[in-house]
Amino acid sequence: MGNFGVCYYPEHWDEERIETDISLMKDIGISYVRLAEFSWHKMEPIEGQYDFKWLNDVVDKFADAGISCIIGTPTAAPPAWLMNKHPEIFPVNDMGVRVTFNGRHHDCQSNKTYREYVKKIVTEMAKEFGHNENVAGWQIDNEFGNGHGDLCYCDSCRQAFIEWLEEKYKTVDNLNKAWGCAFWSQEYNDFSEVFLPAHTAAGKNPSTELDFKRFCSDLIVDFSKAQIDIIRQYSENQFITHNCMGFADKVNYYDLAADLDFVCHDQYPGGFYLQMPHEDNAFLAQTLELMRSFKNKNFWIMEQQAGPTGWNIMGRTPAPGQLSLWTAQAIAHGADKITYFRWRTATFGTEQYWHGILPHSGKPGRRYDEIKYTINRYDELLDEIKDLESDAKVAIVYSYDNYHALNIQPHNPDLSYVGVLADYYRALYDLKIEADMVSEMADFSKYKLVIAPLQYILKPEVKEHFDEYVKNGGHMCFTYRSGVKDENNICVSDCELPGLLSEMTGIEINDYDCLRETEVTIDLGQYSGKGKLFADIITTKEAERVGVYTNNYYSGETAISVNDYGKGLVYYIGCELDDNLLNKLIYSMLLQAKIEVKYKELDRGIEVVTRKGKDKTYIFFLNHNNYVAKLNKELIEGIEVMIGEKNGLLEPFGTAVYVKEK
Ligand code: GLA
Ligand code: ZN
Repeated sequence: MGNFGVCYYPEHWDEERIETDISLMKDIGISYVRLAEFSWHKMEPIEGQYDFKWLNDVVDKFADAGISCIIGTPTAAPPAWLMNKHPEIFPVNDMGVRVTFNGRHHDCQSNKTYREYVKKIVTEMAKEFGHNENVAGWQIDNEFGNGHGDLCYCDSCRQAFIEWLEEKYKTVDNLNKAWGCAFWSQEYNDFSEVFLPAHTAAGKNPSTELDFKRFCSDLIVDFSKAQIDIIRQYSENQFITHNCMGFADKVNYYDLAADLDFVCHDQYPGGFYLQMPHEDNAFLAQTLELMRSFKNKNFWIMEQQAGPTGWNIMGRTPAPGQLSLWTAQAIAHGADKITYFRWRTATFGTEQYWHGILPHSGKPGRRYDEIKYTINRYDELLDEIKDLESDAKVAIVYSYDNYHALNIQPHNPDLSYVGVLADYYRALYDLKIEADMVSEMADFSKYKLVIAPLQYILKPEVKEHFDEYVKNGGHMCFTYRSGVKDENNICVSDCELPGLLSEMTGIEINDYDCLRETEVTIDLGQYSGKGKLFADIITTKEAERVGVYTNNYYSGETAISVNDYGKGLVYYIGCELDDNLLNKLIYSMLLQAKIEVKYKELDRGIEVVTRKGKDKTYIFFLNHNNYVAKLNKELIEGIEVMIGEKNGLLEPFGTAVYVKEK
């Protein structure tokens, strides 16, 4: 199986068309297809009557052409006969309204009847294709959590939540304490009295909300695991994966990934908009880095944008070169294989304007040519760089608990956990410094600097982990709203903020200011600028002052501090700095940590990514600008161009890959 594939829906077209499609696929170098993830009705048109002949024929035809298949379980779109027979499977939104048929993702994952139907169809599929040599692997469901925006608040979910709580807290007194139920008389006498945190008359308990988010994630992981177990039982030499959605918050992907052979990501750089401000390129890169963190290894792209996107509203058309550039970006950040979505644009259904490689007419055009060019350009390289690691010396910590808890209580309506993480990543990106995304408990030993923004909920074991890293010489950076809560989403009260981080940071926060629609001014010595969102007024104990507020009643107080701790350093940033100030501060942190900042002077919009092998290092230069850019001589001295122009030129949306022998 090669490195490029495409999502294919043979059931959308006349049967004979497949011959044309196969020959066109072969012509551009497609070596695998993903099939059937929404074809439940076609495989089980009537309850208990399975029909796999059509799919077997398709798999065989691809086998004859040397194209492998990945089969998706169709559980994101249960058919009408099933939903009519068991309407209780439709999820209920937080207003108590049951959703209906006509779209997809209309399944409650805790519903026991649904689980039985899922078990049957997946078992039949696994028996049918588990030993088919042309089926390379499986995708479970499709984009878990997509469409479950409101989660499900049905009776079955309530019962499952109650059981989950009983397992976690053992006694109802423990639960009452953990959730602070003394507030507003929310105590329960028995687990069976617990309500789901659906729409209320006024306010919600943040501890209940956080546990519900965790429960919903566990439910999805369990739903996935049930399918994985069946497939493993009936299959041989086939991988199992799932197509994730980057920073989506419905499932804890670290947990989900544990049961998968590798994770996949669906990358749509243009989204519904394609405005592509500079920031988005950084965020796309960060999303890819995040995917690599879920299993701490490379991943696949299961859906890579192949044309303009759109359901009822459309995004702009990617300019010539952009589809290719985005593919190169995914490869540079650790995608081992690229699967385009989709082959031919659908003429019916919700996604008529979510364009595939081929247009509605099925005739090859500009996108087909560009993807052919792209596959030809990167196929061999992918073989060579598979499994290589990043060479990042910096990491940014990502945590679902902090994400959820700050969604529940953002403090400032403009504060978003992912937005803040993106600010830090972008500051590094603009300095052309690579950063890995990592979980709280990841091994930090390869990093010189670990940035952990908004460590709002801080568990003692996480604090210990940070502590050890710094004591051994690591540098860490924390921000405002850290060490605020325990794992039950309750404010800590046995010491001043930043709570468990007090000793490491060498500071105390005795006062703070939520910056609603206002900013603070900050002086950093050589530089000055602004801060927004939130301001911690820092009292330095062991720490030294790095930056100071210059307005409001706390003018003259510390805004940023640094503390010598063990063999390392700990920074604390009291508010969200403007881009320029953050950039300057991060730059000084990099120098302190002895991290080489080599490509800083390159144009904005040129991205630099390296993959490090045993004897060779590959350096990608990606030009997100729509003009010709140039890499100055000093930067490419001593490295060989492997792909791209020889003179250091980068076409508009062009790329170059250089190699350095070690
Ligand atoms: C997602 C899904 C696909 C398709 C595309 C386009 O990524 O996984 O099935 O719906 O979006 O909307
Ligand atoms: Zn439900």
